[in-house]
Amino acid sequence: MTADAWPALDGLVYGGDYNPEQWPREVWDEDVRLMREAGVNLVSVGIFSWAMLEPKEGLYDFAWMDDLLDLLHAHGISADLGTPSVSPPAWFFDAYPDARVTTKDGTVMGFGSRGMASHASPEYRAAIERMAGELAQRYGSHPAVVLWHVHNEYGVPVAEDFGPRAVASWHRWLQERYSTLEGLNSAWGTAFWGQRYDDWEHVVAPAATPTIANPAMRLDWARFTDDQLRECFRIERDAIRAHATQPITTNFMAHQSWNTDLWKWAQEVDVVADDHYLWSPDEDAHIGLALSADLTRSVAGGAPWMLLEHSTSAVNWQGRNIAKRPGEMRRNALTHLGRGADAIMFFQWRASRSGAEKFHSAMVPHAGTDSRVFREVVELGAHLKDAAEVQGSRVHADVAVLYDWESLWAQDLEWRPSDDLQFRERMRAYYERLWRDGVTVDFAHPEHDLSRYRLVVAPASYLLTASAGRNLTRYVENGGTLLVSAFSGIVDEHDAVHEGGFGAPLKDALGVTVEEFLPLREGESCTVDLDGTALPADVWSEHMRLAGADARGTFRDGPAAGMPAITRHSHGAGHGWYVGTRLSAAALAGVMPAIYADAGVETAAQAEDLEVVIRRGDAHDFVIAVNHGAADAELEISGTDLLTGAAIDGTLELVGGGVAVVRTARQGGGHG
Ligand code: GAL
Repeated sequence: MTADAWPALDGLVYGGDYNPEQWPREVWDEDVRLMREAGVNLVSVGIFSWAMLEPKEGLYDFAWMDDLLDLLHAHGISADLGTPSVSPPAWFFDAYPDARVTTKDGTVMGFGSRGMASHASPEYRAAIERMAGELAQRYGSHPAVVLWHVHNEYGVPVAEDFGPRAVASWHRWLQERYSTLEGLNSAWGTAFWGQRYDDWEHVVAPAATPTIANPAMRLDWARFTDDQLRECFRIERDAIRAHATQPITTNFMAHQSWNTDLWKWAQEVDVVADDHYLWSPDEDAHIGLALSADLTRSVAGGAPWMLLEHSTSAVNWQGRNIAKRPGEMRRNALTHLGRGADAIMFFQWRASRSGAEKFHSAMVPHAGTDSRVFREVVELGAHLKDAAEVQGSRVHADVAVLYDWESLWAQDLEWRPSDDLQFRERMRAYYERLWRDGVTVDFAHPEHDLSRYRLVVAPASYLLTASAGRNLTRYVENGGTLLVSAFSGIVDEHDAVHEGGFGAPLKDALGVTVEEFLPLREGESCTVDLDGTALPADVWSEHMRLAGADARGTFRDGPAAGMPAITRHSHGAGHGWYVGTRLSAAALAGVMPAIYADAGVETAAQAEDLEVVIRRGDAHDFVIAVNHGAADAELEISGTDLLTGAAIDGTLELVGGGVAVVRTARQGGGHG
C-alpha cells in the first residue's frame, strides 16, 4: 500500500469533523446550507457514533446515517466516513469487562470518556471488525463517501495496556521477535540485576517496578504497543476494503504523537492524514506547526496529505486555551497548505453545547454566524477555491532532518546523563534555526537513502543502528554534509551502548568520539568560543576526542573548559560537523553559515518572520508566503497572487499578518 491515493474531490479539500447526532434534525438543514456558504466540500462523520449506530449488541440503526449521507450528497458535500472504534458503547464494556484497559499500576479504567478499549482484547477486535464491515457493506457505494476514517488518533488517550490479554500478546510478540529466550536475554542484557529469564511465562511487562525497569524491555514494549495499534488498524482497514474501494486513512499527530512510529504507519494508509493543534505556552507555535507539517509530508513520501483537524481558534484541553487572533487561523492553514496539505479541515464544524469539549472552538462557534470566526471560515473557504490549482504540486527540499520514533522512545527513558537533553526540544531547536533561515526541510529516517540532500541534520539520534551509522558515513563519503548534535550514535536497537565508545557508528563520518559526558547542573550555562565569537550553551558538555576532525569551537568554561565543542571533519568527498553541547536556535545562528557553505545550501533573503515555501507543479511553481510579523514585508517575486488575482511584478508587498499564494514561473528541478 502506498500513501498516494486521494479522495475523489475536485480542488483543495475544506471542511471539518461533523457531529450532527448532537443536534436536532432541523439544525442539519441549516448546517448543510452554511457549509455551502463556507465552501466546505468534505466532512468527517461517525467517528464517535457507535452507540447510535448499534444501540444494542447486533441491533443496528443506520437510518439516521442514511439520512445524513443523503442530505450531504444532495448538497454537494462529501463524507469522510469514520469507524467508531475509539468509543465503544456502554453495553460493550458491560458485556466484555475484560476489554477495558489496565494501567501500569493495575487500575482498570472505566466507561464514561473515550478511548478506553484494550487493543489486545479479542472481543474488541472482533467488534471493530464487525462494525467496520457493516459500515463498509452499507456505505461502500454511497456516492457521498469518498474517504474512510478509521478510529481516531491512535495512541491517545491510551496506548499501553498492562492487562492479562495484553501480556499474553506481548509474550507472543517477543517469541516472534527473538525465537529463543537466549535471544531475548541477550538483547535485553538481563545479566544485569539478575533479570535473566528461563521461561517465557515469567517475562514481565514493564508495569510498576520498584526502581526503573529494564530499558531494552521498555523500548521493545513501545514497539509492541505501536504494533498492537497497527494490528487493530489493519483489522478495520481490511474489513472495509472487502466492500469498498475509496481510500482509507486514519488521523496521525506527527510531532505530537509519542506512541506511533509514523514511518511504519504511513505504509498502511492510502493517504496520509494529520491533526495539529498549537501549543499555547509556545509563543512561536507556528514554527512547531511548520515542523509538524513537514514531518507529515515526509512520512507521506512527499505526496500531498490531508490536515484532518486543526482549530479555528482556542482548544479546550490546555491549561490556558489561547484564542487565535484575527488572521491567525488563515496563516496556520496556509502554512499547512504551503508544506504540502491539499486538505484543510477543522475539529469541528459546530461547537458542542454539552460534554467535555464545549469550550473548543469550531467553524460555527457558539456565537453563531455573525462572528469573526465564521467570517474568517468563509473567507478561508474562498481562498482555498481560488488556490485550487495548487492541488497536487509538491514541496522540494535540499535538507533533511533525521527523525526516528525509536530514538525518541529510547532517549526519553529515565536515567540518562541529563534529564534536560530531550529529543523533541532538540528537534525543535534545530528545526527552528532552519525555519528562521528560510531553509525548507524534509524529515528522513536515518536508514533512508539520503543521497538527494545537500545537508543532513541529526538533532537527536541517541539510538542509531550500526547500519544507520554506515548509511550516514556513506552519505558523507559521497559528498554530503552531515551535522550531528550531542548524545547521538550512543546505543543500538537494544539500547545497548555501541562497542567502540560513545558515537562509535559515526566516528569515521565525524572524526570524533566522546570519552565522557560532562552535563551541567540545572540552570548552569557555559560558553563556546567559535572563531572569535562567544556562543551561550547550557545543559551539556563533554570530553570529546578528536579522531581526525578539526576543533572549530572550544568550551571556554564549565567542566569541559579548553576542550573541543564544535568540530568539522573532511571525510571522502563530504564533511561531518559535530556540536557537543546544547545550543539554542539563536546560538545555532553562529554555527550554521559555515555548514550551509560546506553544503551549498542557500538561505532566504526575506525577513525572518516571512515564511516562504515553494510548491512545484507541472506547469508552475506556487509560492506560499505567510507573514507572521506585525510589520509589512517584501518578497522579490513575479507572478499572480491567486488569493487576490493581483499581478505581481518584481516585488510582493505583504502586510503584517498577511498571506499570499503566488503562481510563478517554474524555477527548474523535477516534479518533487
Ligand atoms: C483531537 C481529537 C478530536 C478532538 C480534538 C480537540 O485530538 O481527535 O476528537 O478531541 O482533539 O482539540
